[in-house]
Amino acid sequence: MCGIVGYVGGQSAQDVVVAGLKRLEYRGYDSAGVAVLADGGLAGAKKAGKLLNLEKELKDRPLPAGNTGVGHTRWATHGGPTDVNAHPHLDNAGRVAVVHNGIIENFAALREELAGRGHELASETDTEVVAHLLAEAYSSAGDLAEAMRQVCRRLHGAFTLVAVHADAPDTVVGARRNSPLVVGVGDGEMFLASDVAAFIAHTRDAIELGQDQVVELSRDGATVTGFDGLPADVHAYHVDWDASAAEKGGYASFMLKEIADQPKAVADTLLGRIDASGTLHLDEVRIPPSELREVDKVVIIACGTAFHAGMIAKYAIEHVTRLPCETELASEFRYRDPILDRHTLVVAISQSGETMDTLMAVRHAREQGAKVLAICNTNGSTIPRESDAVLYTHAGPEVAVASTKAFLTQLVACYLVALYLGQIRGTKWGDEIRTVVRQLSEVPRQVEQVLGTMEPVRALARSLADRDTVLFVGRHVGYPVALEGALKLKELAYMHAEGFAAGELKHGPIALIDEGLPVVVIVPSPRGRSVLHDKIVSNIQEIRARGARTVVIAEEGDEAVVPYADHLIRIPATPTLLQPLVATVPLQVFACELATARGNEVDQPRNLAKSVTVE
Ligand code: M6R
Repeated sequence: MCGIVGYVGGQSAQDVVVAGLKRLEYRGYDSAGVAVLADGGLAGAKKAGKLLNLEKELKDRPLPAGNTGVGHTRWATHGGPTDVNAHPHLDNAGRVAVVHNGIIENFAALREELAGRGHELASETDTEVVAHLLAEAYSSAGDLAEAMRQVCRRLHGAFTLVAVHADAPDTVVGARRNSPLVVGVGDGEMFLASDVAAFIAHTRDAIELGQDQVVELSRDGATVTGFDGLPADVHAYHVDWDASAAEKGGYASFMLKEIADQPKAVADTLLGRIDASGTLHLDEVRIPPSELREVDKVVIIACGTAFHAGMIAKYAIEHVTRLPCETELASEFRYRDPILDRHTLVVAISQSGETMDTLMAVRHAREQGAKVLAICNTNGSTIPRESDAVLYTHAGPEVAVASTKAFLTQLVACYLVALYLGQIRGTKWGDEIRTVVRQLSEVPRQVEQVLGTMEPVRALARSLADRDTVLFVGRHVGYPVALEGALKLKELAYMHAEGFAAGELKHGPIALIDEGLPVVVIVPSPRGRSVLHDKIVSNIQEIRARGARTVVIAEEGDEAVVPYADHLIRIPATPTLLQPLVATVPLQVFACELATARGNEVDQPRNLAKSVTVE
């Protein structure tokens, strides 16, 4: 939520910052702004709406040249998306400019205090208090980093702050608590951003900032301290993807590109996991096998699409390990006083590694003594940093707000965790594990095959663009797939879409079925547990008898469904547990096409942001 950029170096700060904001716009797009140090003062512009509005403003009225600056793209929390509420925020003298991601919980008290000292605050935001406090602190400390430390010690809540001061040329200062901030290390130039994507066109060398740290950037380097002023340890790393990975690469949207990236993302996530002797290695899993052998319960926590991956993981983990496994919405988890102890393994799934609900659940789990394993796509982000172990997915940057390739790679990672636990706990033989790994290695080709047959799905989506409701039903692992299909349609097409366990239809939802209502049915394989297949074929007949227009997703060779399918989408045959890896793909394509046909912008759906860093 909110993307922030800071720059000091030899290039035009306006150009570098605005280009960085373009890469971060997925984080929020309610308003955008930029400020640069120029001619001994501060110059800036900010505009409500998408970044395009700011770019237009800067084209009409360019800022004076300057090499130090900050910028922001906003997902509104305090105050509506107006020009005045857009960041950067300044102090009354217009000497300090601040951008912020997060929520300052004690802002009302601070605002009152500042008003009492004669400060006039122009916006409705929590951020503006920081600009005023910083100006005051700087006037006594004479040093921007020290002023920032003093201010941070007074703030409650989650905040990443980046600031410049007209009296401190060639200096950018940032602070981080509970929201992401990374330093980019260039040659004679330095960057600060919510995400490495903002500066990847300039450098792939980065420094992770830890919790409660302040960083001071000059052109030649970074100095990091804690909020207490003591020097802090930092972790430098090299980003293993380049600027082209964060571009659309000829696709009309990032979402289409990311759907198409899935075969590679799955293959990359599987790469190097099994050695010549057939033993599975998850190198980033730093919890000793002896402790994993003592685990007596697994709890999966996640939000949104990652939660759906977690629901599917429950089937795999229980099947492979025979350990009880629960999947919980991270936002509900800590409020119900869950039963956790040192024998509980908590698996936190998050693409961004920054989702506040999941982070808070991770902290709660660790406080209760549980071990936490993160499944994450973002190197150096907060959730893996605060977990006992991490298994990285290798999906590459996911820019579109709707999660696609991250979901498939989360599933792969979950299957690997299940197999790894099975291996070290001895519930699966080596050859059984090798069989599943071999089946997983088939998935990139199978996803490729699905992607090659999507034209009828796109045509169907376009034909349904004027409908109000689409329902999705599935059984077993097809149920979370149904939920994921419905979530994609809600967030992209702004339609009423709901997913149900097919067996639940008769307990209420079947009353929704009306003449012509589209119902997408995810059909399990007729091989394996045929009882599941038979049951869902009966469900299809029940809904069709009540007028539904059935869209049936079934594996090749499943002829039993043909008489009941108004539209039939074929997927390759996979083992039951792996079917979500191929069955989800048509639903992503369907939602993307339907949303586009309705004129919606698929990469940046209304009211949403990619990374949800507020609770
Ligand atoms: O970064 P995370 O995986 O923690 O994000 C969790 C959800 O916010 C995310 O999956 C969200 O539901 C997506 N927009 C769905 O497409």
